[in-house]
Amino acid sequence: MKVGIVGAGMVGSAAGYALVLRGVASHVVLVDRNRDLARAQAEDIAHAVPFASAASLVEAGDYAALAGAGVVILAAGVAQKPGEDRLSLLSRNVAVFSEIVAEVRAAAPEAMLVVASNPVDVMTLFATRASGLPPARVIGSGTILDTARFRWLVGQHLGIAPQSVHAYVLGEHGDSEVLAWSAARAGATPLAGFAAQVGAPITADVRARIDAGVRGAAETIIRGKGATWYGIGAGLARLVRAIAADERAVLSVSMRMPEVAGVTDVALSVPRIVGAHGVEADLFPDLSPEETAALARSAMILRDTARQIEQ
Ligand code: 2OP
Repeated sequence: MKVGIVGAGMVGSAAGYALVLRGVASHVVLVDRNRDLARAQAEDIAHAVPFASAASLVEAGDYAALAGAGVVILAAGVAQKPGEDRLSLLSRNVAVFSEIVAEVRAAAPEAMLVVASNPVDVMTLFATRASGLPPARVIGSGTILDTARFRWLVGQHLGIAPQSVHAYVLGEHGDSEVLAWSAARAGATPLAGFAAQVGAPITADVRARIDAGVRGAAETIIRGKGATWYGIGAGLARLVRAIAADERAVLSVSMRMPEVAGVTDVALSVPRIVGAHGVEADLFPDLSPEETAALARSAMILRDTARQIEQ
């Protein structure tokens, strides 16, 4: 599959690198208003192709070079600074997206859009409206990364591989996100039972530590190195692989929904089946009453934030 990436900063280029290393894309095109940056990133990523599991063509181009892309990742815009939350980026990134979505739609009318720029849920809602595409074809990276952080921390606590932890983060990719503890499993076993068996119970303290670790991960990394890119780059490549290979994989990603937890017309993450047609179905987990209330709160925060772009 040919994959376009608009925005050749750290997130866009990390996604391109991960796509190439995993052999997901046969052709990657990086588009950035800073042409020199796009060219340099493309050349650097191209030098990884001889070490990758499949051959890919990697190049920089203008919007016209996106013609024929099956997926275009939107990773342009500003990123948060230390102490800034994702929602505060909204007006700046909406202005950037207004132009980009129109250009991408004109150049690659068949392409599915994968939104990575923050605040990703509201940007997904905006890109869905601006593109005129069906919601299932405009997918936000949403909580794919928060889910990975959750699985990583739970796996570390239990001494098992994160790939064997089946747990999801729902709602906003941001401060109001909801860790769905009640639906979490280690292998096929409910988390609490397995944790007790291996002598690593999930006490209130452990839960609070993991919750803070997931919710605060970006802030910690941004303080240390200015931005996050490897985790999201790998997550974007994982999402594109599900589309390119028609995997029907279950991933927690964001999409515009007519209604969730009593809130209408909002984009947020729940586990979803992702394949060649984009989002094919939602797999809503059983939640505790507290988690359901937290999801409703998260949806309301996103709904209220989205109102800022409707004025
Ligand atoms: C992250 O969570 C900053 O949204 C980015 O890593």
